[in-house]
Amino acid sequence: MMYLKENSPIEMLRQMAVYLGADLKEDHGAAILLLDNKNGKGSISLYEVFPGLTAWVYRITFSSDFKFDFIFQDEQQYYFGYHHSGYQLQKFSNEEQPTKLLKNQNFIIVGEPGITSDFTIPKDITYECCYLIINPEDFLSYSSQRRKDLTLRLKEVFAFQVKQKTYRYLGDIDAKTDAYVSLIIDNERTDLIGRLAIEGSILNMLSSQLESYNEDMSSELLTIGLTKAELSKITEIGDFIRANLESNFTMDTLVKQFGMGPKKLQKGIKHLYGCTVNELTINIKMAHAKELIETTDMTISEICYSVGYSSRSYFSKVFQKRYHILPSDFKAAHYKNDFLFEVSYRSIAKPNLSESDIQSILNRSKVENNKRQITGSLIYHNNVFFQLIEGPKRDILNLYDNIQNDERHYDIVTMWQGPKTKREFENWDMALITDNSNIADAVSKEIKGLNLEYLMGDIKNQSLLSERLWRKVRNTLKLEKH
Ligand SMILES: Cc1cc2nc3c(=O)[nH]c(=O)nc-3n(C[C@H](O)[C@H](O)[C@H](O)COP(=O)(O)O)c2cc1C
Repeated sequence: MMYLKENSPIEMLRQMAVYLGADLKEDHGAAILLLDNKNGKGSISLYEVFPGLTAWVYRITFSSDFKFDFIFQDEQQYYFGYHHSGYQLQKFSNEEQPTKLLKNQNFIIVGEPGITSDFTIPKDITYECCYLIINPEDFLSYSSQRRKDLTLRLKEVFAFQVKQKTYRYLGDIDAKTDAYVSLIIDNERTDLIGRLAIEGSILNMLSSQLESYNEDMSSELLTIGLTKAELSKITEIGDFIRANLESNFTMDTLVKQFGMGPKKLQKGIKHLYGCTVNELTINIKMAHAKELIETTDMTISEICYSVGYSSRSYFSKVFQKRYHILPSDFKAAHYKNDFLFEVSYRSIAKPNLSESDIQSILNRSKVENNKRQITGSLIYHNNVFFQLIEGPKRDILNLYDNIQNDERHYDIVTMWQGPKTKREFENWDMALITDNSNIADAVSKEIKGLNLEYLMGDIKNQSLLSERLWRKVRNTLKLEKH
């Protein structure tokens, strides 16, 4: 039985990855757990649509009943769920009998601090389920301008539920929601286009669940009048727009390119992305512009032209409409000194690297890192380094540049780099974790609590050079809050 503490969705996925011995890949705003071992086979993906709304998607078969005891925390989150395939059992700790959450059934679960909930996903079944995790406070403050209709209906749900009490809603068996959930489940892409497609489907799923929750069954069924082949063709439109960001094409271009009439195109796009062709184009351009601000040194003007806008002020206006912040302010916020960033990598030490070499790397690191508010941890094991550094983005990227050019190691492979909200190694300029007792002695007071054997687990069965192993170590390190 696994004990899973309610937390941010990514933190919960990390706990699961460590428990199941699964691989976990993170991307900006998305993550995927990949399981292929004695515990089962499949994936669990996570997409943050916007602050306060995250989708959690299971496509997995467990080889024994997967049971976890879920411990609710103070900050109440709402779990909107729907099974596309399979079912699960759920029981609050103050209940006698578990409840079966059925295939094609809408359900909502809310916990109460101090109460736990047992979940059991049965073994040997194709388990496909989508959960939408909603944090009401974040959701309401972020989404009110964007999704008035959804916000209003959600408020009704939030209002109905007495604060700080457990709550389970079991809805009708509902095929309508299934159409949206299956689109979410079929989409395994965690890149930009995949996420935008998912965003539309997730909002559609939520909307559909709320509709059924409100017993507003009079609305018409999902009859979009498109074949599966046509829908699948329309999913390529996102890629087409992305590949042609600089050109300002018209509906005519799309009609020619995709061999479908404008009505069908509009309908399909509305269905897949929840918006018009125009809005989709703008969303993709703005998402790309945002990515460029985050990952390059291009100026706002350069970015504006590169996504097909000739007027900078108009571009800024559109960007602000989408992200509620001017691109110049977004850039300033992104690069301001306290913008926290992480890089983690693994590398191979040059032959004959001595203990004193390592000690001198460590000493130098401690002094330099302290000056720049960089913290982190360095693992040295059988000639392989793994390092996680965190701190102000500019300083981290500069340091990583230095490290990559350092001749004391080679074959450097980046495990992860990206922004983060909280430090993992707050009090450590650079904690060294090693199985070499002499070096360990020198820094022993800092390494207690982090056990190398435990961190590496079944290391004997894995190559020290495998990215998967080091991703696992990174996940374990991040969970080992001290
Ligand atoms: C595995 C490894 C980890 C390192 N970690 C750090 C570190 O955390 N901080 C640091 O300042 N230098 C670190 N260094 C040293 C840098 O590569 C580089 O030597 C140092 O930043 C000085 O660069 P400079 O002489 O160009 O100023 C590390 C080197 C290696 C081989």
